[in-house]
Amino acid sequence: MIEITSPARVDQKPGTSGLRKKTRHFQEPQFLERFVQAIFEAIGGAEGKTFVVGGDGREWSLDATKIIIRIAAANGAKKLIIGQNALLSTPAASNVIRKYKTDGGIILSASHNPGGIDGDFGVKFNGPNGGPAPEKVTDAIFDLTKSDVTYRMIEADAPNVNKVGPSTFEGMEIDVIDPVEDYVELMESLFDFDAIGKMVANGRTLRFDAMHAITGPYAKAILEDRIGSPAGTVINEVPLPDFGKGHPDPNPTWANVLFDAVVKRGEADIAAASDGDGDRNMIVGADIYVTPSDSLAIICEHAQKIPAYAEGLDGIARSMPTSGAVDRVAAELGIECFVTPTGWKFFGNLMDAGRITICGEESFGTGSTHVREKDGLWAYLCWLNIMAATGKTARELVDDHWKRFGRTFYSRHDYEEVPQELADKVVAAATEAVKAGSDELAKAEIFAYDDPIDGSHSANQGFRFEFPNGSKAIMRLSGTGTVGATIRLYFEKHEADEARFGDDAQDALAEVIAKTETLLGVQAKTGKTGPDVIT
Ligand code: G1P
Ligand code: ZN
Repeated sequence: MIEITSPARVDQKPGTSGLRKKTRHFQEPQFLERFVQAIFEAIGGAEGKTFVVGGDGREWSLDATKIIIRIAAANGAKKLIIGQNALLSTPAASNVIRKYKTDGGIILSASHNPGGIDGDFGVKFNGPNGGPAPEKVTDAIFDLTKSDVTYRMIEADAPNVNKVGPSTFEGMEIDVIDPVEDYVELMESLFDFDAIGKMVANGRTLRFDAMHAITGPYAKAILEDRIGSPAGTVINEVPLPDFGKGHPDPNPTWANVLFDAVVKRGEADIAAASDGDGDRNMIVGADIYVTPSDSLAIICEHAQKIPAYAEGLDGIARSMPTSGAVDRVAAELGIECFVTPTGWKFFGNLMDAGRITICGEESFGTGSTHVREKDGLWAYLCWLNIMAATGKTARELVDDHWKRFGRTFYSRHDYEEVPQELADKVVAAATEAVKAGSDELAKAEIFAYDDPIDGSHSANQGFRFEFPNGSKAIMRLSGTGTVGATIRLYFEKHEADEARFGDDAQDALAEVIAKTETLLGVQAKTGKTGPDVIT
C-alpha cells in the first residue's frame, strides 16, 4: 500500500449531481484518487464497508474503476459490487445499493453531458438508501478536498471487471454482477408486463432510443425479450464510450431523430429516449410531445392503474422549476405535494420518510420510491402500463388531462457557455428585482428550502417571479455545466380555456418571455439573440 499526500485544490466541488469535469481534467494526476479518498473520509471511512461501483460506460470508466478498486482496498473496504465492464445505469445502481443493503455506491457518469476524451466525466456518491448523497455529505467532501488529501492506494494493478463472478483483491471481495438482471426483476415486480405485451400484440407500436448510452441492454431485455415488442424496437442500443459522438440528452433538440419520427411522422404509437446514464426520459406519442411536467402529472393521475401503485400514492414532490400541473393532480387526489430545489437529492428524505411515492423534475426526470434516483425506463413503462390499462393513446391521455385540469404551458430556455462575469450581471439584475419589487410583479423571491424531515436549510435555490396575470418565470444558474455558466429561464402559464389548448407553447408564453427579458435582460447582457436550447 502507498500513501500519497496530494496538495489542496479548489476545483472539486460537487454540483447538482456529483463532480463533473472535462474528461482530461479528471485524468489529471491524483484528481480522482484524492476525490475518492475524500468521499470515504466524509462518510466516516470505508473500513469493513460494501460499496457498489458502476456507471454509464463513458470514456475512461474502466481506468477510473481500477483506481477506485485500489483505493477502496487500501482503505479496508470489505467488498465492492461492480457492474460487468463497469456498467450500471444510475437507477440500476441505486437498486443494487438498496437490494444488497450496501453502504452506498460510486457512480461514474456525467449523465446527459457528451462523453469521450473531449467530453465530460463525472463521479457521484450515493448513500445506503440508494440516493445521491445529501448536501451535508457533499459539502463535507468538498471541504476535505480544499486541504491536502492523503490517499491510500494498493500499488498493484486492479483486476479487470469483464467477467461476472466473485474474486478477491488484496483481502477485499469483488463481486462482478450482470448489470441488467436485478433491474429487470425490479421492473417486472412493479408493472403488468402481460398487459403491456397484449397491447403490443394487438398492434400498438413502441420505440425506444437509447442514444448509444447505457439503457440499450436494459431496454432490449425488457421491451423486446420480456414484453415481446419486435426486434428493432430499441434503436441506438449499443452503449459506446463516446455515445457515438452524440449528445445523450433526451429532449426535442438532442433526440430530434426520434422526435421527428414519432411526433411528426407517427412512426410509433408511444416512444421514449433516455440519457447517458439512464435516469432521464422524454415521452413522445404519435402527434404529441409530452412535456416532462405534464408527464409527471399524468403518471400521478393514473398511477393506481399500475400494480405497484394500486393502493395510491403517499404524496408527490416536484422540483421548484417544474410546472404546477402536478400540484393540481395532488390536490384532486387529496395528497401532499412538496416543492423542492432542483436536483434529485432533495427527494430522498421525503421518500425515506414515506411522505411521497412519485416525484419529478422538468428536466426530463421522473421516478418513484422503487429506487432513489430518477428512472428513464421506469417512466416509459408507466406510460405503457397506463395505456394498456386505459386503452387510450398518448394523445388521448394528454387531451383528457388538459380537459380535467387545464393546460399548463411550460418551457425552459437555456443560455449556455455564458462567461461567468456576464452571468453574474444577470444574477445581480435578478437580485435587484427581488429587492426593489415593482407593480409589474405580483411576487418576487429567492427560493430557499427547509427540509421537512431533517430540518436542513438550502438557500439561494433560484429566483422566482410571478406576474399579475398569474404567469411565472424562474431564473437559476445550472450546477451541472462544465464550461462557463448556463443560465436557465423557466416559463409557465396555466390556461383554463379549452379553445387555447392547441396553441403553440412558445406563442402562449411569448408575453411572459418578453416581460422576463425586460426584467432581467438576459439577451441584452449576454449578447445572445436567443436561447441555445429550448425544451
Ligand atoms: C440539471 C437539471 C436538474 C437535474 C440535474 C441532474 O441540473 O436542471 O433538474 O436534477 O441536471 O440531472 P442543473 O444543470 O440545472 O443544475
Ligand atoms: Zn442522467
